[in-house]
Amino acid sequence: MNAGTSSGQDWAFKAQPHAGRVAVVTGAARGIGLEIALRLARDGARLALADADAAGLEASAAKVRATGAEVITAAGDLSLEATAEALMQATRDAFGRIDILVNNAGGGVILPFLEHTPQTLKQTIDRNLWTVLWCCRAALPTMQKQRYGRVIIIGADSVMSGLWAHAAYNAAKGGAHGLTTGLAREFARDGITVNTVAPCAVRTPQLEEIAAKDPALVERFVSIIPMGRAAEMAEVASMVSYVASPEAAFVTGQVISVNGGSTMRG
Ligand SMILES: NC(=O)c1ccc[n+]([C@@H]2O[C@H](COP(=O)([O-])OP(=O)(O)OC[C@H]3O[C@@H](n4cnc5c(N)ncnc54)[C@H](O)[C@@H]3O)[C@@H](O)[C@H]2O)c1
Repeated sequence: MNAGTSSGQDWAFKAQPHAGRVAVVTGAARGIGLEIALRLARDGARLALADADAAGLEASAAKVRATGAEVITAAGDLSLEATAEALMQATRDAFGRIDILVNNAGGGVILPFLEHTPQTLKQTIDRNLWTVLWCCRAALPTMQKQRYGRVIIIGADSVMSGLWAHAAYNAAKGGAHGLTTGLAREFARDGITVNTVAPCAVRTPQLEEIAAKDPALVERFVSIIPMGRAAEMAEVASMVSYVASPEAAFVTGQVISVNGGSTMRG
């Protein structure tokens, strides 16, 4: 008998909220994407991991398999429609369904607006918006047929705070935030929820590298966070795991900040 419940099944369900579920995580070769994949695996999901960095992706897959989870990988540039379609097809072929889509691929080309080149502007939109559009389009028909789905987008709190050097990045992430409410409404009666998890600065290995080179820049980013520190990757993954769970069935169309209190409205 498990403590606090009358049935062991209830307890098992809560301990592994994603047991039997299939999750696609994009941008899983490193950083927050890897952390999300590890969290969903520990919570019972089978995983399809995707990234443009094929070697990093295989290294991540080995770490996630070490938790005991079933994992497939699909490498390629997800700002291209064909890559997103192939990822979802590979997931259906391997597991027969797609329950959770975590649109985490992205990352900033963080520059003052006038220092961007046409190429860095395009890269910013490709990485942070086109990846999300194509992956949502490729996954949603399957979720609609299943009458079940959890779409999560990793957005950015900088859209709200207007963080220094983030204007172009915020244009892309703001597009993803905008997609959230519209998709949530369109699929609200299909058993599908769509939410964005929007972190402030997160203590990733890359942020630590930047902090080593330019501590003043990172201090500036952290200075607007009331808690006085960057988010931990695990704190972002924890929110993702919650909105990806069956328990979050009535949470949809939300941009949920994980930001140490950076943006508060009275
Ligand atoms: N790190 C932060 O402080 C922070 C803050 C707010 C939001 N975010 C967002 O969280 C997500 C993860 O951040 P991170 O710091 O771990 O990023 P990261 O740059 O370390 O990793 C992003 C991953 O996405 C992959 N990727 C990028 N474009 C791709 C494409 N077109 N096709 C396939 N894969 C692609 C990269 O290869 C990389 O492995 C990103 O969407 C980022 O914008 C990060």
